[in-house]
Amino acid sequence: MTPPSEHGSARQRRASSIVVAIDGPAASGKSSTAHWVAERLSYRHIDSGAVYRAATAATMHSQRSPEWWTDAIVLASAASIALRERGDSFEPVFAGVPMEDMIRGLDVTQNVSRVARMPAVRLWVNDKVRAAADGFDVVADGRDIGTVVFPDADLKIFLVADSWERARRRLTQRLSRRPTDAEIAVETELLVQRDARDAMQTMQAKDAVLIDTTYLTQEEQVERIVALAQAVTQRASDTSPR
Ligand code: CDP
Repeated sequence: MTPPSEHGSARQRRASSIVVAIDGPAASGKSSTAHWVAERLSYRHIDSGAVYRAATAATMHSQRSPEWWTDAIVLASAASIALRERGDSFEPVFAGVPMEDMIRGLDVTQNVSRVARMPAVRLWVNDKVRAAADGFDVVADGRDIGTVVFPDADLKIFLVADSWERARRRLTQRLSRRPTDAEIAVETELLVQRDARDAMQTMQAKDAVLIDTTYLTQEEQVERIVALAQAVTQRASDTSPR
């Protein structure tokens, strides 16, 4: 673990820690993959999307209709949100109450892109993610982790998959059964719309490894990323002064 220093950015403070950044479009499997990669490597997992969702859920309680939301309203509504450690990951809590149950619903999913487009909100989320990572080896997932949040990440992955397949996986997870083709078609349309709303925020770093998971199992994609991360840490230890 990196000893905390009094000065400098988050990146400088965790000079010897490893950051694996996993980005990609909606439902590309970033969070579940990041969770398993972190578990395999004994790193911490930080899901930045959960923080955007938490800010959205908190703002929904402000009673104002979403068209009137501003950066200031969102930040004021989200002021009591903190990221609390839970095992090797973090959960957003509002005034100490876990938010997981309220952040995955359709209403939050439909409004989260509006919140995520607000520059002041992005800075607020980025600070929370960097603070959670500070001094630890982490796997962080989102849309801009390898470009904006941790541009110096040791390993950057950009996950993509066919939109039909992403919709099928998301529904299987949500419904705990095999979705029908009609259900997948509706979900595909919603995903494509959200991809369009998030396009400005979703950035593939030039040095990211692109992995198309359409024909990969969860285990295969986790295995590939773990192998890449192990190669990076091996190279780092080979070149570090003895
Ligand atoms: O898992 P899924 O792809 O459905 O979304 P998520 O990771 O939970 O993120 C929810 C939303 O947060 C996205 O639709 C984006 O609008 C926003 N987001 C972002 O803008 N930047 C990030 N680094 C992470 C999420």
